[in-house]
Amino acid sequence: MNLPRTSKVILITGCSSGFGLLTAARLAAKGHIVFATMRNLEKSQALLGEAQKRNATLRLLQLDVTDNLSIQKAVSAIEQEFNHIDVLINNAGYGIGGFFEDLSEEDIRRQMETNFFGAQNVTRQVIPAMRRQGEGKIINITSVAGLYGLPGFGAYNASKWALEGFSESLYYELKLFGIKVCLVEPGTYRTKIFDENRRYAANYNNPNSPYYHYSQHLKQRVDEHVKASRRDPEDIAILIERLVNSSNPPFRNIPDLKSKITYTLRHFLPFRVFSGILYKGMLLGMKKPKTVSPSN
Ligand SMILES: NC(=O)c1ccc[n+]([C@@H]2O[C@H](COP(=O)([O-])OP(=O)(O)OC[C@H]3O[C@@H](n4cnc5c(N)ncnc54)[C@H](OP(=O)(O)O)[C@@H]3O)[C@@H](O)[C@H]2O)c1
Repeated sequence: MNLPRTSKVILITGCSSGFGLLTAARLAAKGHIVFATMRNLEKSQALLGEAQKRNATLRLLQLDVTDNLSIQKAVSAIEQEFNHIDVLINNAGYGIGGFFEDLSEEDIRRQMETNFFGAQNVTRQVIPAMRRQGEGKIINITSVAGLYGLPGFGAYNASKWALEGFSESLYYELKLFGIKVCLVEPGTYRTKIFDENRRYAANYNNPNSPYYHYSQHLKQRVDEHVKASRRDPEDIAILIERLVNSSNPPFRNIPDLKSKITYTLRHFLPFRVFSGILYKGMLLGMKKPKTVSPSN
């Protein structure tokens, strides 16, 4: 199918809610050909409602980033219709909270399967089309959690940190073929990631865990932090739109000021100073466990 030069063929993962939903609706409203994907199409009502509100038309496809067959089907459906893919937005993801000893190996592997291997799975199947075209753009939604570690978020930190490292390496490899890679690294935005999609470590709520008091306190702190966040998730859709339209997008994109400042401090302060501030702010002053079980 022939398209006006400004309309791009875009594949986005994780469009049933949050950034993915808003980005898909926004890009479609701006005249792009958007293939909005989600693992469960029964959840498409919210996206379709948003698209209708914006007078936008988009195409829906089923895609679970942990299921290579579903990725293959989605990618070939796009290629059959358009014979090319201009932009891939790796957005699907979730966060699991919990201290390392409270997390099971399965908790951590699952987190990596979605946030890290999931993005790689989709990327792997899209690159050949982009290489043939001699152009393309891959936008990976990581997080500030990929730039500095936080207590109680180790699994999420690791998954986003891995995605950051992989993306930086891929940036060079795909530049050889005219394909651009860039990152979006949001701070805290109120989406379902902190609500119904939030996951907890296997032992998060186990009162016998030596971390129980800390994790309960941290949960309360995170809830307050999320509740206080006034950032509009649409800002992420606006940023992604800018990256889609840019012929030379910056590699790193931290959208909110507080995260930019924290990242700069993490970069320039000695770790001893930065970690001291964070430790004090997040862990000191928490209720200490009264007893520690001898089994621990
Ligand atoms: N909100 C924030 O503050 C924030 C900050 C930094 C980074 N991020 C990142 O932004 C991205 C989007 O998150 P969000 O805030 O918009 O959260 P969200 O509203 O929970 O959306 C997450 C989306 O990912 C999908 N998803 C999860 N596992 C999937 C899988 N295996 N295959 C396909 N889709 C899957 C979810 O689908 P289901 O409905 O089927 O679960 C949902 O559509 C994530 O990568 C997240 O880590 C968010």
